[in-house]
Formats: sequence, C-alpha cells, structure tokens
Amino acid sequence: MIQTAVLGFGTVGSGVVEVLDRNSDKINGTVREGINVKYILDLREFPESPYRDKVVHDYDVILNDPDIKIICETMGGKEPAYTFSRKALEKGISVCTSNKELVAAKGPELISIAKEHNCSYMFEASVGGGIPLLRPIVTSLEQEKITKVTGILNGTTNYILTKMDAEGADFDETLGEAQAKGYAERNPEADVEGYDTGRKIAILTSLISGGTVKFEDVYCEGIAKITQEDFRAARLAGGVIKLLGICELGEDGRYTVMTAPFIVGRESPLAMVNDVYNGILIHGNMVDDVMFYGQGAGRYPTASAVVADVVDCARNIGKWIPIDWDGSKVEELAPFFERKGKFMVRVDIDERAAVAMAFGTSVQVLDAATGEFTFITGELTEKDFADKAASLKTVRNSIRVLADK
Ligand code: HSE
Repeated sequence: MIQTAVLGFGTVGSGVVEVLDRNSDKINGTVREGINVKYILDLREFPESPYRDKVVHDYDVILNDPDIKIICETMGGKEPAYTFSRKALEKGISVCTSNKELVAAKGPELISIAKEHNCSYMFEASVGGGIPLLRPIVTSLEQEKITKVTGILNGTTNYILTKMDAEGADFDETLGEAQAKGYAERNPEADVEGYDTGRKIAILTSLISGGTVKFEDVYCEGIAKITQEDFRAARLAGGVIKLLGICELGEDGRYTVMTAPFIVGRESPLAMVNDVYNGILIHGNMVDDVMFYGQGAGRYPTASAVVADVVDCARNIGKWIPIDWDGSKVEELAPFFERKGKFMVRVDIDERAAVAMAFGTSVQVLDAATGEFTFITGELTEKDFADKAASLKTVRNSIRVLADK
C-alpha cells in the first residue's frame, strides 16, 4: 500500500479521505499497490468519525514515518501549510493541495523544492474545484499560444449572483447559505472581494506564461456593490452579471490580469454557468475556444481533484511530475488603466445632459424612465472612463461589459 496523510480534516480534507475510501476499488485498480490514508492531522478530535483512529496532532509523527509517500494539504492559508509542505517535499514526500492562497504565493518555490527532491507539488484542486483544468492546460494545451482566459472561478460568488438575480435573494442570506454548503472561504471576504478569483487567475496566467504572476499585481474588484437595480439594468442590456477572472495577452507580450463583475451577454456560454458551477473559456491561437465546466467548490468535487493528483503522484513515486512555472521570472503586467472596454453606467435621470457632455450622444441608452438614466459607453480605456465618470455627480454603479470576442 502507498501510505498517505491528510493535513486538515475540514470540508475538503474529510472529502479526500472519503473519496479515497469510497472509490478505493476504482483507485486500487489504477494504482496496483493501493492507496491508504494512514494519518489525519488536525487540532481537533473526531470521536464520531469512522476515521477517528487515524487522527494525530503532531506533524512530526507523519514527517518521521518513512512509509508516508504523499501528503494532502487541505488546511488552507499560508501557515503552517507552507512550512508543513516544504518539510514534506524536502523529505521526498509529494504534496497535493487545494490551497490556492499558498499556491499563488509560493507555488514556484514549492515546485522547485519538489523537483530537487524527486517528488511532486500538485495543485489541480486549487483552481476550478472539481474541474480538470490545470492538467489540460499544462498537457493537452501545451502546444497552444493561449491568448485569453475568461473564467467564472469562484463558486461562492457565482452562487450568490445566481440567487440574487433569479430569486431576488438577499446578499447576506445567500452568503450564509454558501457558507453552510462549505463553498465559502473561512473568511468570505476573499470570495466577495474577488481575492479568491484573483489568486486563481494569477495561478492560471502563471501556468500559461511559464513565469510568475503575483497576486498583488492583479486588479481585483468584488461583488459587494452589486444591487438588484444592477441586475435589472443587466437584463435590459441582454445579459447577466458574473464575477470574472480574465487574463489577456496584449500585442506587446504583456498580460492584462484582472477580476471584476462583468455584464455577460446571454448568448455567451459563460452566462449559462450558474450556482456553484465554474466555467472557464480558454482561447488558443490554433484550437480557438475551449470551455471547461463543473463544480468550482464543495467537498466532493474539490476532494476528487485532490485525489486525482494523489493518484498521479502514486504512479510517479520517486519522480518529479513536471510543471513549468518559473519563480525567478516575474511577469510584468500591462498597466490596468490602459485596458479597453465598454461600461454600463447608472446615473440619476437629471444627469442625462451631463452624460452627453462627458461620453457623447452615441452612448447606448438602456433606460431613461425609472428615475435612472442607464447607458453603455463606447469603447474606452479604464483611465478615460474613470475621468469621464468622475465628471458625473450621481453614478449609482458602473459595471464593465464583456466584449463578444
Ligand atoms: N471559496 C472558493 C469558491 C472555494 O467559492 O470558489 C473553492 O476554491
């Protein structure tokens, strides 16, 4: 048996133990030796759990057991996850994780430690939950020049936006539901403010470019300011509101990387991605558009992706599974204020004339009847838009509009 340990027996960690157990016949058919969870590390006891006898509280018990070949790090957060992962890799123990915060911050360093010690650092579950996404990017799409990724990458906010739009649901109540279902981060600010999507698009862009995109350089805007009036305006524009992570390669070879709410036209496949589902549209120069779809959060989908990595590592004991992500090459991103796009804006009806002054008369008017004047601008840079919007007194909200192509 190949012996493993799971660090953190929360939503994902307990799911990993269960997936390995419930699908053991399938997994053991693939990995001849079989895979066994020998330890579960957690501060808590789990007297009711069938796995209670595996629970330990001291990481050294795991680290000093020469039988352990693979560790699943499902603790989340930077510490102690970073120290535990590094120590394992330095001993030649592969690490499989769903921890996007750690992957975004320390991914290339941990990959290179793994390479040095003939083991692997794997993180399929860190982006897109249960969707096989990173493996296809680094294998099946390796030959492609990927010029754009547009993704719904956060299950919690997609769940909230879907319910608010379809049912007129209250923001806080719906966030509470997402937390109860185990979708949200421990601190849901990471979901709501777009940081989680920002980390995921930083990881994706790094894998695509081969360099490192720092999360701190990603423009992040969340969904906290979205109101029922915005959904109404989006419907008038023929679209829905989605929180997107986008990376786009410019002609100068620099990427624009961002996360923000967008109005997505109803004909876009991304408009049909609802609830906790994620959808990621990837544009390659030869393959054109490919789309990945599935549950982006939740116990079993995320655990399934962690276990996919465990199986890969079990088949490659003593070897490094290559991932091209160079920590020494930090990607210089395109300045965000130069990004071009259209914007939907809601102002008081009294400002109709001021809108014409600032944006011209060719704006697309969506509504001028309900006390609001709602319009879509022509294509502008972020800077031009911000300057023009600043000349208006009553901007209630503005949301970017996703270009058709
Ligand atoms: N909080 C994350 C989400 C979990 O809602 O997508 C999966 O990364």
